[in-house]
Amino acid sequence: MIVDRQGRRFRNLRVSLTAACNYACTYCVPNGKRLVAAQDELSAQALARGVAYLIEAAGIERLRITGGEPLVSPRLDGFLAAIAKLPLDDISLTTNGQLLARKLPALHAAGIRRLNVSLDTLDPLAFRRIARGGDLASVLAGMQRASEQGMRIKVNMVPMRGQNLDQVLPLLDYCLERGFELRFIELMRMGHLASDRNAFLQQFVGLDQVLGLIGTEHAFEQVDVPVDATALRYQIPGKGHFGVIANESVPFCRGCSRLRLSSTGWLHGCLSSSNRHFVGDLLEKPRHQALPALQRLLVKALADKQDVAFSGGVTVMKVIGG
Ligand code: 5AD
Repeated sequence: MIVDRQGRRFRNLRVSLTAACNYACTYCVPNGKRLVAAQDELSAQALARGVAYLIEAAGIERLRITGGEPLVSPRLDGFLAAIAKLPLDDISLTTNGQLLARKLPALHAAGIRRLNVSLDTLDPLAFRRIARGGDLASVLAGMQRASEQGMRIKVNMVPMRGQNLDQVLPLLDYCLERGFELRFIELMRMGHLASDRNAFLQQFVGLDQVLGLIGTEHAFEQVDVPVDATALRYQIPGKGHFGVIANESVPFCRGCSRLRLSSTGWLHGCLSSSNRHFVGDLLEKPRHQALPALQRLLVKALADKQDVAFSGGVTVMKVIGG
């Protein structure tokens, strides 16, 4: 097993099925243009082989499927079929929810029981302004249907000054009523927000402010989370839970166990590092050839992790997912 000086190792793998997305969220793409699939995206089989090899080479236990938007990928069904028999403790998916209702049967059949749905507002106009694609009603209907079918749902909201701060309490109440767990993600300095300090500072809303807003309506207490969790978790007695991913206010790099594989075959050991390691060619090789080479690259990928805090970077969430 590859372990670093801080005792960190890779346990959680995120595979981006495609860089394409049917939204163009303001924090992700500055120009409002939707992302399209890269020319050189790997096949479903190669990506699934990547998961299989990384289970062995890195000790991966849990898989999250991301994008771009994974549900727009024509490789989704093939990938789900190909990973079905792999020894994983958990398979989950991060989605914007737009195509959720349609794709639910395939997700369910693949054993997926946990979804993270990105939703920044319940106001249709603000939704259009922030997501710049899709429509709110489809997302809400998709979550409803998924929940009825027994999926556990977490909702990701990025609170931003001037955009959706008025939605912190409505979205929280909406989630509590339905048994969804809302998670507030502090805005991260990624992509254009890494270089445009003003845009970042103007919109950034931190943990204290979020908790302050919630405190005006609800009594809550912090509860324990696993050591490698990224979210702080809170309980509102009798009503449910919510979380805050406070990458700026309470950095969690020390416990990070995440590894990312992009749709074009690059390994990323850290969201905040511009380093990446190409493995697309290795995924075409038989196991006995691929594993030793992968292990050498995994040592480098693990060394890319930040010591304490996310320092911001040009790596874009959009192509490798959360
Ligand atoms: N800062 C914070 N969250 C972001 N996301 C995408 N880009 C950023 C950013 N710059 C969120 C998406 C999604 C999750 C995976 O990450 O809204 O819910």
